[in-house]
Amino acid sequence: MVKFGEIISDMTTNRRDWLKTAFLGSAALTLSPLEFLAKNTPNFSELKNDEKTIRLCFNENPFGVSPKALEAMQKSMSFSSMYDFKFSDVLGEKLAEKNQLKKDNILVSAGSSFLLELITKYVSLDKGHLIIPNPSFTIFEPIAEFLGMSKSVIPLNDQKKIDLVKMKNSIRKDTKLIYICNPNNPTGDLLSRQEIETFIQSVPESITILVDEAYIEFTNQRSLGDWVNLHRNLIITRTFSKLYGFAGARLGYAMGHPKMIKNLKKLQSWNGAEISVVTMAGAIAAMDDQEFISKVLDNNQKVKNFTNAEFLKRGIKTIPSSANFVYFSLENYKGDYFKNLKDAKILGGKTYEEKGKWTRISLGTMEEMKRYFELIYKS
Ligand SMILES: Cc1ncc(COP(=O)(O)O)c(C=O)c1O
Repeated sequence: MVKFGEIISDMTTNRRDWLKTAFLGSAALTLSPLEFLAKNTPNFSELKNDEKTIRLCFNENPFGVSPKALEAMQKSMSFSSMYDFKFSDVLGEKLAEKNQLKKDNILVSAGSSFLLELITKYVSLDKGHLIIPNPSFTIFEPIAEFLGMSKSVIPLNDQKKIDLVKMKNSIRKDTKLIYICNPNNPTGDLLSRQEIETFIQSVPESITILVDEAYIEFTNQRSLGDWVNLHRNLIITRTFSKLYGFAGARLGYAMGHPKMIKNLKKLQSWNGAEISVVTMAGAIAAMDDQEFISKVLDNNQKVKNFTNAEFLKRGIKTIPSSANFVYFSLENYKGDYFKNLKDAKILGGKTYEEKGKWTRISLGTMEEMKRYFELIYKS
């Protein structure tokens, strides 16, 4: 019989390194993952509620949820006793309209992570091969492996861009899925529409191309959503967790050709039932809160300029970011970066590439970023 502890241990393998570095720094290296979780997970909720803690680790919205969404959520709480047949329709219609698509192009879920999971399960039905960039947001990789898929992991090119040429060259007869995160997490690099369009046109239609646009709203680039009716093998995922501040409320959606959406729904017993009425009501209102959206985007740009300038002043290498975080080098950092984060009560990212030379910092408010530089780059 599989023990619960083993399952937890497996599930946490990927997050283990991150947890070690984000919360404890080098001290955590002496703890096993389970010891670590036992000792520290309860503290996570304390940290969350501690006003002094600065959260620069999950690319969340530093302004929280939009006031209009909050109001709608509060009002809708009294509907919580009923199965929803009302909000889901409005939400689907609104998302379709926003993206100039039809309702049958849209699939909603409680966060885009679940859609990445669903798409992975769908493409894995007949087994095969997937192509993923590295580093990227490949949260679905263990599921694909568990379901018997093989994979090609393609490192970023020397400009730290997703290497579309190598991805294309890695296509095999049994390739079922290619994942592109645009802008990419953790680098923030953005592939142009032209680059992706050319790539899509060059890939056989039998291969599903999944474009994760979790951060596209932070760019001036048009979503690829308008291409889903042209290319049946294209599926786009979007999230409400970033721009709209719904990371805890949970809402994401996918855009695809009606046939693709219909097939994905076959893997769900009741599509959309995992999303609460409160979240749906909030999301409907959030899309109309233009004042909040402008405030978030404006802050993000100003804070990004400030952050880039501070890194530049210190001679720290960064990758130009089109998202709400910045990828930078720890190469010349003096001291223990993660210990300093912990001492300053700042939650930061994990390490990536070149034996951990690179890391990511989410963009908070201007005050939070000023504090980050004051405390972490003292000299
Ligand atoms: C690129 C990318 N895709 C998807 C997600 C998952 O978002 P959600 O909260 O909608 O599950 C994240 C979360 O950080 C992300 O960075």
